Amino acid sequence: MSASARKTAPMPDDIRAMKGGTPIVTLTAYTTPVARMMDAHCDVVLVGDSVGMVLHGLPSTLGVTMEMMEMHGRAVARGLDKAMMVIDMPFGSYEESPQQAFANAARLMRETGAAAVKLEGGAHMAETIAFLTARGVPVMAHLGLTPQSINTLGGYKVQGRDTQADAMVADARAVAGAGAFSVVLEKVPATLADRITGGIEIPTIGIGASAGCDGQVLVVDDMLGLFTAFKPKFVKRYATLGEDGEAAIAAYAADVRARRFPEPEHTFADRAQGE
Ligand code: KIV
Repeated sequence: MSASARKTAPMPDDIRAMKGGTPIVTLTAYTTPVARMMDAHCDVVLVGDSVGMVLHGLPSTLGVTMEMMEMHGRAVARGLDKAMMVIDMPFGSYEESPQQAFANAARLMRETGAAAVKLEGGAHMAETIAFLTARGVPVMAHLGLTPQSINTLGGYKVQGRDTQADAMVADARAVAGAGAFSVVLEKVPATLADRITGGIEIPTIGIGASAGCDGQVLVVDDMLGLFTAFKPKFVKRYATLGEDGEAAIAAYAADVRARRFPEPEHTFADRAQGE
């Protein structure tokens, strides 16, 4: 069922049940108005830690804090009615122990109303994923290019080529076996994404993966052309809001300097005239 036809937001089990069916539509959001724009069209809205780079100008996602995720999570929740909200656990908030992960996941869900959390990592996070799901925290896993690990991955490279492929299949099986309800595959070869999709029972959500994944996700600022610092190959720009916005700002500045703005319709008379 499409998000626009549904009356209430899906639950993580509903997303899991979409495996092999109509692709799961996911986008990131960080603010109320953007969440409102996508609510009728997306199954899942992810409050991604990409917020650090696209809205806060950070060089990577490593500087994102719990407080930032809480603030943006609350904003996104105000704009959603039909789509399910998932929130990223920021770097350093879950890796130390299952107990640390539970305390911070519970805090994010309590403070934002998110239905699930997303965390990065494969087999080494399986114990934590099992601990969380057993305690009421649905988990979306994230494999492949895991941006919180860029310093150990050596940058934003394609993951899972050649001898790495079998290990990623094992990671996908481990997170699925631990109870994750879905898994993001980022920047992995299409054949490997298809192999993983066919080899596990939970939906794969691709970003730079394959059209054969059970769903797709993009960073909203990338696909709207708002974030232009760089464009990964896997991004398709559906709009040029960055360029259009700058042109609009330049036109406003020119109008102000030439006293073309405000015009009579933007100003007020001595007596009220229906404004
Ligand atoms: O933070 C984010 O935006 C993400 C997506 C790229 C999946 O994790």
